[in-house]
Amino acid sequence: MTTARPAAVIILAAGEGTRMKSATPKVLHRIGGRSLVGHALAAARATNPQHLAVVVRHERELVAAHVAEIDPAATIADQDEVKGTGRATECALDALPTDLSGTVLVTYGDVPLLTGATLVDLIARHEGSGSAATVITANLDNPQGYGRIIRDTDGAVAGIVEQKDATEEQRAITEINSGIYAFDAAVLREALGRVGTDNAQGEKYLTDVLGIAREAGRPVGAHLIDDLWQTEGVNDRVQLATLGRELNRRNTERWMREGVTIVDPATTWIDVDVTIGRDATILPNTQLLGATTIGAGATIGPDTTLTDTEVGERAEVKRTEANLAEIGPEASVGPFSYLRPGTVLGAKGKIGGFVETKNAQIGDGAKVPHLTYAGDVTIGEGANIGAGTIFANYDGVAKHHTTVGKHSFVGSDTVIVAPVDIADGAYVAAGSTLTGDVEPGQIAVARGRQKNVDGWVARARAGTKTEAAAQAATEAGTRHTDTAATEPTTHGDEQGRA
Ligand code: UD1
Ligand code: CA
Repeated sequence: MTTARPAAVIILAAGEGTRMKSATPKVLHRIGGRSLVGHALAAARATNPQHLAVVVRHERELVAAHVAEIDPAATIADQDEVKGTGRATECALDALPTDLSGTVLVTYGDVPLLTGATLVDLIARHEGSGSAATVITANLDNPQGYGRIIRDTDGAVAGIVEQKDATEEQRAITEINSGIYAFDAAVLREALGRVGTDNAQGEKYLTDVLGIAREAGRPVGAHLIDDLWQTEGVNDRVQLATLGRELNRRNTERWMREGVTIVDPATTWIDVDVTIGRDATILPNTQLLGATTIGAGATIGPDTTLTDTEVGERAEVKRTEANLAEIGPEASVGPFSYLRPGTVLGAKGKIGGFVETKNAQIGDGAKVPHLTYAGDVTIGEGANIGAGTIFANYDGVAKHHTTVGKHSFVGSDTVIVAPVDIADGAYVAAGSTLTGDVEPGQIAVARGRQKNVDGWVARARAGTKTEAAAQAATEAGTRHTDTAATEPTTHGDEQGRA
């Protein structure tokens, strides 16, 4: 269905949100990786409005700055000291062009599950029926606290009465006002001019507009929806968590329908801006956050948190924390790996257990398999970094960069004191502390030579079991006197003569 562009969407976000008990304004709290007002803006933008205004007052600077950051084209409208949803809407109209005509939508900044599709339906219903005002309503088992929809004997909407102003009889009505409306701009402006504050809360109610329009002979309608979640607001942290979980349930379900295997949706958290390719598998306890993208056929998790990270097709990422990293196709990461910003792992590359990387470009097929810190490094394709290698990038003052050329080999337990340039096709011997460059084809050995001192145990450890074992082996003319170890071995005699 195509609908006309609404003239404007007005998002009310000036309220205090006292029940959040938070230094952070309510609409800046987040679910699904997006602020509550960010969700409202996304739904509003889906209707392609000519104007979009956000009404602010409480913590004005913080809310306005956030809105300007995520939606720079939105108009910030300041509400004055007059309270109420009606006054908030009036302040928005004052901030918008005076010749505004056509449909104006009003929504809230704290109703995060409302979708753009529902707003598009509302516009279609509103314009299709020729109403001056159309309100989204829902039937609730417990309508406590909400404004109630008053209908005529013939079922037409006659107005809305707030809980605090309602009679016992009216309180028994279960059809509630969601607070989301479509209005004809001219009717809205005119009716708001006539709304007073003579009610239980002394506020200027937006809800009064419907009764006023109706009394002026304008048709007023309701758009009853079944999906109650879409009308639900966040007032406290319990609702924040409840709506956050439901948003996640919807989002994980959407990805499963797109062809992603999610083994345990209940422990899988996927932010709204994440994208996942077909036949990817997400294992339990995995969080995909921010603008993370997962390639087709990749396997992520269990116990993995990826933030703003790009994972290539068929890659495997297990028990890993990664932030602003790129993992190439068919690469393997984890278990227990920590990828910090600037990590770029090439196709079929490997970052293994207990490896931390930062600003590390690791080429195609290169491997950093065990117990390594790789910070500020470029590692060429096919290179192998031995277990326990530390790229010592920080001298206490500045960071320095190391290059390991392609198909080069760094032996285990090596410290590379940056800056160092290891050329293509070079070796570094295990246990080295490297401070200088290595040329193609060379091996660098930077460690103490092994020296064996005869008779040391007999002199320095006389009377110990060690001395007795040494004596027994010497007398037997062997290296080991127990059966298991006296089997012939081939390693040994040459050992340690580097
Ligand atoms: C309002 C409706 C009620 C409806 C309910 C749905 C009115 C008079 N009542 O009640 O019929 O069932 O929403 O949730 O409209 N806001 C401002 N400025 C203000 C007051 C509120 O911007 O001066 C914003 C708030 O930030 C919030 C929204 O408007 O986003 C609703 O305000 P709230 O105080 O929660 O309204 P309710 O009393 O719940
Ligand atoms: Ca509310």
